[in-house]
Amino acid sequence: MKISENISLSELTTMKLGGPVNYVVDVEAIEDIPSAYKFAEKKQLPVYILGNGSNTIGRDEGFKGVIIRNHIRGITSRYDENDNFLIKGMGGEKWDDIVEYACKNGYSGIEAMSMIPGTLGAAPVQNIGAYGQDVAQVIDSVEVYNSVTNQYETLPAELLQMGYRRSIFNYGEMAGKYFIISVTIRVHQGSLQPPFYTSLQAYVDEHQVTDFSPNNIRRIVTEIRSEKLPDPAVVATAGSFFKNIYLTDEDAMKAEARGMKIIRRPGENKISAGWMLEECGLKGQSFHGMRVSDKSALILINEGAKSYADLADARFAIQQIVRTKFGLTLQQEPVEVPTR
Ligand code: EPU
Repeated sequence: MKISENISLSELTTMKLGGPVNYVVDVEAIEDIPSAYKFAEKKQLPVYILGNGSNTIGRDEGFKGVIIRNHIRGITSRYDENDNFLIKGMGGEKWDDIVEYACKNGYSGIEAMSMIPGTLGAAPVQNIGAYGQDVAQVIDSVEVYNSVTNQYETLPAELLQMGYRRSIFNYGEMAGKYFIISVTIRVHQGSLQPPFYTSLQAYVDEHQVTDFSPNNIRRIVTEIRSEKLPDPAVVATAGSFFKNIYLTDEDAMKAEARGMKIIRRPGENKISAGWMLEECGLKGQSFHGMRVSDKSALILINEGAKSYADLADARFAIQQIVRTKFGLTLQQEPVEVPTR
């Protein structure tokens, strides 16, 4: 366990904003977890858990507390009684290394989620997803440390209440109270079958792809993403900055009558935030040092914002433009570190 003092949130998050944190505790082994919480308790400071900060934004006030980061590594696998392949990864592993592991072994289930930045431990928190797959579809169980009872627990998928970008880990009374030790993912033999998610299908059609094996889908998704999405290790960004909007059937019909583009899938009507932003002509525009990417309108890049206040001004300006045109308010997708 490593303890550091007076680190800035701008160093801990890929958006590169935010003020000071009292302590950062880097946890490297399961035994470190209770010690990390005890340390915070002794200092009488609250705890916030961070992965690699690629979907998290810091505020200028910083965080009066202890940030615990999960660096516990390790990947193991086994078969279940139905011949599914179970991959158990420790929370500090990179999400994409798990995807690579599954694809290399020829298993399907997470290949469309290739190249999503962040740690495995963060994946179930906001139920990461891409190109028609999300973690909720494949999760078997999560091992946690419950910081309220100070006990280790294994939570089966049914208890996680996963929805669009949410779960019990970020919503409700236990939000932020579990430290995710490991995540077990269930993948299976076979491959994705068409029709695919819109942007994936467009690629498949254009390039006349017939090999839908996990490794090839991974290659394609990697190519699509690297064309549109900046690498947060290189460019200051937190990925999609706004959430898509999901509507009931009735509201979707009304929105369509107003000329809005609705993406329909079984049980779901989506208005793409990216589409709205693009329709508003925002691609490539800059607000208070934050630029709307010219490749995908959903991506906000910190080119010269000096503070969270700049980001808040940019967010407000963009929300106003979208509200004026569409009468809908976009909600921020990345989470924020609390200030205390
Ligand atoms: N679109 C535009 N202009 C844009 C961007 C998108 O018109 O600039 C429209 C297109 O019509 C496209 C539709 O939006 O058909 C959907 O776009 P895309 O498939 O690229 O996905 P998205 O809705 O923009 C979501 C996730 C991404 C994830 C992709 C791929 C959210 C907020 N974002 O984006 O996740 O990679 O789907 O499945 O749900 C992230 O969360 O950081 C992230 C990158």
